[in-house]
Amino acid sequence: MHIIVEKEKGIATLKLHRPDALNALNRSLVDELDHHLDALRNDKEMGAVILTGEKNFAAGADIKAMVDLDAARAEAFAFSKTFQKIYDLEIPTIAAIEGYALGGGLELAITCDFRIASSEAKLGFPETGLGIMPGAGGTIIAPRLIGVSKALEMILFGSIIDAEEALHIGLVNRITEPGQAYKEALLWADKLVNGAPLALKMVKKTIREGLKAGDYETGMEIEKKNWAMLFETLDQKEGMTAFLEKRKPVYKGK
Ligand code: CAA
Repeated sequence: MHIIVEKEKGIATLKLHRPDALNALNRSLVDELDHHLDALRNDKEMGAVILTGEKNFAAGADIKAMVDLDAARAEAFAFSKTFQKIYDLEIPTIAAIEGYALGGGLELAITCDFRIASSEAKLGFPETGLGIMPGAGGTIIAPRLIGVSKALEMILFGSIIDAEEALHIGLVNRITEPGQAYKEALLWADKLVNGAPLALKMVKKTIREGLKAGDYETGMEIEKKNWAMLFETLDQKEGMTAFLEKRKPVYKGK
């Protein structure tokens, strides 16, 4: 078993567990992750997901498993289909990073909505040093997150950066004391699960649809429609009524 699942108070934690290989991602680990993501997509009790490891997040795809692959088998080995399932989750996703998040490990982290990293975390895309390139979102998501030039710098040089620099370039959202990344992620997740669930989901959906559309006018149209749709929800009535009555809202996700 390479993934440990915990579900508590609306928060699902998927913990990578392959410590002997620094959580290097092999097919069976990613297949397990895929299976849990399918279950999560249909779990209406969950309001946020945390992906994490123990001492390390993940030191990339398993190099031993890849060394002899040809192009066809490399395509079959690729993780993008599973990582897409994370990207497509309606609920917020957080990567809590201790230690290494490299290559496919960093790609897994940037597929999440937020990254919380310990001050001792090390992040990078070392793939070009192995004669390959990122193959699970590194060249697609990283430029959107940190800009084209910074993404090129990280990927072409394959340098490993520390948490401070990652924060500086917007690769991570928050730095914690060593060993505290998961604890901080739980605080973030707790705030999120106590928010208005339909509004949160609509924000994710709208940002994704806007990015996909690409142009300003279409994006603004999408936003206006999605914004207006929230006025059909009980949560909108509750949120605004609670404000006017000077009390805390109680959201039902309806
Ligand atoms: N694949 C397979 N095994 C790995 C691994 C990986 N990506 N990363 C670490 N391991 C294994 C090591 O082989 C070692 O196993 P053994 O004890 O059996 O030899 C064990 O984990 C511990 O690793 P180290 O002894 O190397 O630990 P270290 O502290 O000296 O170094 C490290 C840590 C700098 C992270 C180093 O392990 C390293 O450079 N790992 C490879 C990182 C990498 O290149 N990742 C990108 C992979 S390619 C990719 O991810 C492609 C993609 O786009 C999907």
